[in-house]
Amino acid sequence: MSVEPDVFSSKEKVPTIVLDSAKEVSLSVAREIADLIRERGSHGRTCVLGLATGSTPMTVYNELVRMHRDEGLSFANVITFNLDEYFPMRPEELQSYNRFMREHLFDRIDIKPENVHIPDGTLDVSDVPEYCRRYERAIQDAGGIDLQLLGIGRTGHIGFNEPGSSRTSRTRLITLDRLTRMDAASDFFGEPNVPRRAITMGVGTILDARRIVLMAFGENKAPIIAQAIEGPVTPTVAASFLQEHPNAQVYLDAAAAAELTRCKCPWT
Ligand code: F6R
Repeated sequence: MSVEPDVFSSKEKVPTIVLDSAKEVSLSVAREIADLIRERGSHGRTCVLGLATGSTPMTVYNELVRMHRDEGLSFANVITFNLDEYFPMRPEELQSYNRFMREHLFDRIDIKPENVHIPDGTLDVSDVPEYCRRYERAIQDAGGIDLQLLGIGRTGHIGFNEPGSSRTSRTRLITLDRLTRMDAASDFFGEPNVPRRAITMGVGTILDARRIVLMAFGENKAPIIAQAIEGPVTPTVAASFLQEHPNAQVYLDAAAAAELTRCKCPWT
């Protein structure tokens, strides 16, 4: 199926671009991030990125690493805040988002270690609320997030903001939805091994970013993408709150766009 890249159907309440493949989307998003880093750098300013883990952003990170290696893209002026981490989780564990980020990006670029922030899955549970307040404060102290990269879960979560997460939610401990735990089961060699909780930035934390880019790939994401983009704004689908953001952009491959109204039009 081929879908027009720049058609903006009136049914879509978030600007949405559909490209043929996940690779095309990823290269385009990596270019936007690189341009922002360079633009900030040229004015002697930092660039604050909000980052996601999972399968969706992997090609973006590969491309950023390639640009660092082949084109001299420097991350010396970049500060990052990751969306989430399982709880409990040690950084060296196979499924740790901390480990994911080091392996896919941080160990392969010139970012300063002190500029990297990833929620800590090793805390005593009683220390989590104060830790989350400090995480929020660190984002503010960095000047706020310039660009937030997002994937979407089949529950509609962004970060790990599961159904029921409010528009004003902030960084906190959350209980993972059953569907999210099922989707993570293969990473953990069985659903019973998937942690029941995670620390996540809140919906409000995400919406404070000046620019938000959500990517979704594959037919598994098509039903929730249609709800998030064309449906009502509701805490039942956290990603639907992006409809209220003034500078959010959704990028889809053709399969993830398959249930959007425009794709049912006879002329596509
Ligand atoms: C990960 C995160 C999640 C994922 C989502 C999609 O840091 O915040 O919201 O983006 O679960 O995961 P993938 O990309 O593996 O389909």
